[in-house]
Amino acid sequence: MIVAIDGPAASGKGTIARRLAAHLGVAHLDTGLLYRATARAMIELGHRLDDIEHAVSAARGLALTDFDEALLRGREMGEAASVVAAIPAVREALIETQRRFARRQEGAVLDGRDIGTVICPDATVKIFVTAAPETRAQRRALELAGRGERVDYASVLEDIRKRDERDSGRASAPLKKAADAVELDTTQMDVEAAFAAALALVRAAAAKPV
Ligand code: CDP
Repeated sequence: MIVAIDGPAASGKGTIARRLAAHLGVAHLDTGLLYRATARAMIELGHRLDDIEHAVSAARGLALTDFDEALLRGREMGEAASVVAAIPAVREALIETQRRFARRQEGAVLDGRDIGTVICPDATVKIFVTAAPETRAQRRALELAGRGERVDYASVLEDIRKRDERDSGRASAPLKKAADAVELDTTQMDVEAAFAAALALVRAAAAKPV
C-alpha cells in the first residue's frame, strides 16, 4: 500500500504521515527533507540557490539516510527549499529516489507537495491536508519556538503565504490536490483528530476492492 499525503506548509501533513507510518508499520519519507537538504548543500557550498547545474548535482548527491533534521527544519531552510524546488531539473533528479522508496514491498507513506500528482499517481490512497493560513502560522510559530528559534507570528504568517504562492504558482509539479485525493481540512482538529480522520481514509481505501 502506498499512502500519498500532500498539502501546504504547516498543514499537519508531516505529523499525520509519521503517525500513519508508525501505525501501519511501514516506512515514511518526508520528501520536503530532500528539497531542504538540497538547499542546505547549496548554501554550504556557497552557490546561489538558482544555480541550476549545482542544484541538480546537490540533489543527485543526496542519501536518504543522512538528513540532519535539526539543521534542516529551520525557517530559513524551508524558504530556501521552496526556491530550489521550483527548478524542474532538481525535481526531475529526485523523482526516481522517491519512486524507489515508494515501491518497497511492505508499503510506504510519503508526504510532500506532488506525491499524489507526480511521484505516485497510482497510490492506494491520497490525502490532501489543508488548514487555514492563520492556523498553519500558529502551528509553525509554536514549532519554531520549540526549536529555540526567535519568531513572531506576523512574519511566520507572511512566510506561509509567500510559500503557498510560490509552491502553487510554479510551472513544475505545483502544489495542487490530485483529482482523486480526499481533502482533509485540519483547521479545527488537534493532532489526534487529524490522525484518526486520516487513518479512517486509509482503512476505507484499503478495504476497497481493486
Ligand atoms: O514542513 P513544510 O511544509 O513547511 O515544508 P516541507 O514539506 O519540508 O517542504 C519545504 C519546501 O520544499 C516546500 O515549500 C516546497 O517548495 C518544497 N517541496 C516540494 O516542492 N515538493 C515536495 N514533494 C516536498 C517539498
